[in-house]
Amino acid sequence: MRVDFGKLLYGGDYNPDQWLEYPDILKEDIRLMKKAHINVVSLGIFAWSKLEPEEGVYDFDWMEEIIDRLYQNGISVILATPSGARPHWLADKYPEVLRVTEDRRRNIFGLRHNHCYTSPVYREKVRQLNSKLAERFDHHPGVILWHISNEYGEECHCPLCQQAFRDWVQKKYKTIDEVNRKWNTSFWSHDYQSFDQIESPSSLGESSIHGLYLDWRRFVSSQTIDFCRNEIRALRDAGGTKPVTTNMMYNYPIINYHEMAKELDIISWDTYPTWHKGPDRLIAMDNGMQHDIMRTLKKAPYMLMESCPGATNWQSVSKLKRPGMLEAASLQAIAHGSESVLYFQIRKGRGGFEKFHGAVIDHYGKDDERTYLECCEVGSDLERLSELQGSVVKSDVAVVYDWENRWALENAAGPRNKNLYYKETVEKNYYAFRKQGLNVDVIDMTQSLDEYRIVAAPMLYMFRAGFAEKVRRFVENGGTFILTYWSGVVDENDLTVLGGTPGELMDVMGLRSTEIDALYDGETNRLIPAEACSRSDVFADAGLQGAYACEHLCQLVNVSTARPLFVYGEDFYKGTPALTVNDFGRGRAYYVCADAEQKFYDDIYAAITREAGIERPFETAVPDGVEVTARSGADGEYIFIQNFNSRPVAFDAESVKGELIFAHSADITGPGEYTFTDKFENVLAPYATIVLKR
Ligand code: GLA
Ligand code: ZN
Repeated sequence: MRVDFGKLLYGGDYNPDQWLEYPDILKEDIRLMKKAHINVVSLGIFAWSKLEPEEGVYDFDWMEEIIDRLYQNGISVILATPSGARPHWLADKYPEVLRVTEDRRRNIFGLRHNHCYTSPVYREKVRQLNSKLAERFDHHPGVILWHISNEYGEECHCPLCQQAFRDWVQKKYKTIDEVNRKWNTSFWSHDYQSFDQIESPSSLGESSIHGLYLDWRRFVSSQTIDFCRNEIRALRDAGGTKPVTTNMMYNYPIINYHEMAKELDIISWDTYPTWHKGPDRLIAMDNGMQHDIMRTLKKAPYMLMESCPGATNWQSVSKLKRPGMLEAASLQAIAHGSESVLYFQIRKGRGGFEKFHGAVIDHYGKDDERTYLECCEVGSDLERLSELQGSVVKSDVAVVYDWENRWALENAAGPRNKNLYYKETVEKNYYAFRKQGLNVDVIDMTQSLDEYRIVAAPMLYMFRAGFAEKVRRFVENGGTFILTYWSGVVDENDLTVLGGTPGELMDVMGLRSTEIDALYDGETNRLIPAEACSRSDVFADAGLQGAYACEHLCQLVNVSTARPLFVYGEDFYKGTPALTVNDFGRGRAYYVCADAEQKFYDDIYAAITREAGIERPFETAVPDGVEVTARSGADGEYIFIQNFNSRPVAFDAESVKGELIFAHSADITGPGEYTFTDKFENVLAPYATIVLKR
């Protein structure tokens, strides 16, 4: 179902279940929310024990009263299914619902997210409660969306999960001989004689069979998604028709979100960057990439479900956001295609683990507190930007970042253990495109390449079935494809490719990768331009004559039809190719051999982008630390320009040839004093945002 809320959503997690004995506070909350332009709250996320205080005894009246009151005041509700934490009675009566750790110990009651996704009892109890909630609330005009559970994650190794895993493996491979073949279990004599012997990976037992590990990762992901599906089905079977989402997490490895996305009507996620811990421009890039991962899951508008209005309490240091930071972070989400800015939490709790976590409303409870005032500012600015609701982000460029590849690559034992820097390498590729002001999609190997002009695939150790073929067609049809070192090494079972790598793409790349040299921390090599580089028009024009540093991994290659554009500058492989290009069909394939410094990617990708004829939002270079992101709507394009530097940056808005429709920045006017302004005179103040329409 296509989800359209008809407005940009603003609000966040609200826990009246912790405040039922404070009617005045509940009343005052509504006044404060309205004043802050809040138009939606997420309710009931951890309210199971208030909704079902005893087994089979439901109490929904308090919830209905609150939903009604919010609705009468123009505030909609995202209603949660409360499976993220269970009541005491449930765990006491049915201990099977509690999770077992990888060292085979069962947890006791406590925490949240401490449950088995396989347990039939847990699934049934959740199903019953969800059905009741749907019957009572789905038709309520104030309820606009279901928030399924909360931040699904982690894994369980209980006997029920072990059996479910064995069944999953048997369904996949049919015979135990096939399992042994696909997992290469004759290594260290670990062959299975029957399915009953299969156990999840454990530090107490099996940890050397990579095929087992990989299938366990797939199982845990699919079992969690199946649990989520069970929750959604309960709502639907009870007649629920409202759309569903679940809140995803930053760079979360355990669930393949591409698979999970198929169950959801709209994607949402929670972001908690450590702003001001190091340069904000780098934090903004990193956070921006996560936004783009989320948007690309469905290639559709998505939601920012949680972010922190002040400081979190669970990071090692609870640093305050500088004036203007909240607005910049919030508008970054909107720029990247979000339809919402939502917070954890509306009101700070009185006790418990999160009593010091930032909130719109402080314990103090009044409307003259700094964070509250900044939240009011964000709320009114979202109203000013309401015309771009429903517009979408389109990209000519995609970077591949694949969950299954990550599982395999990071567990593989070699060529560097632990510090392979997969995410960092993907980021270097992503940043290099973003620095030119281009929108970037971050796709996985199952997604289509057809709508892109350039696709970069860094460290694609595993080629999943069908991917190489897709790349071949993409390049034949005129696409520009970039592959890096340590790619096409294994198949979907983490079995190595025989006969040369990158598997199935040696002709497309015009080379064969031979050996890979891993460097100790602190060791470097250099990449220097080859002769062909100065002869290549685009590279010569780009003035790529200098040397660049590389570290960690250096792939050695034998070229067939590819031309070296850069060669190594040091070591016994000095003079051998380090960046190559190959013409194939109507397209081109580049191969980056080493973990090069960011500047290399920046310069090379600027040239490759120009060569591919990709239009940039404007021709002047994007200043360092400034993010440019465009949303396209029915009557124009909205270009967000945001300064994530803690210093002002000159920026000539004229160069964009658009109409300035929005500007916002905070001016520090004196010690402890600041004002907000919506003036813009060609200087982007720290954390300032402008939006141009054209
Ligand atoms: C997560 C959870 C919330 C809350 C916040 C605190 O995102 O979903 O319930 O605990 O963290 O930052
Ligand atoms: Zn379990």
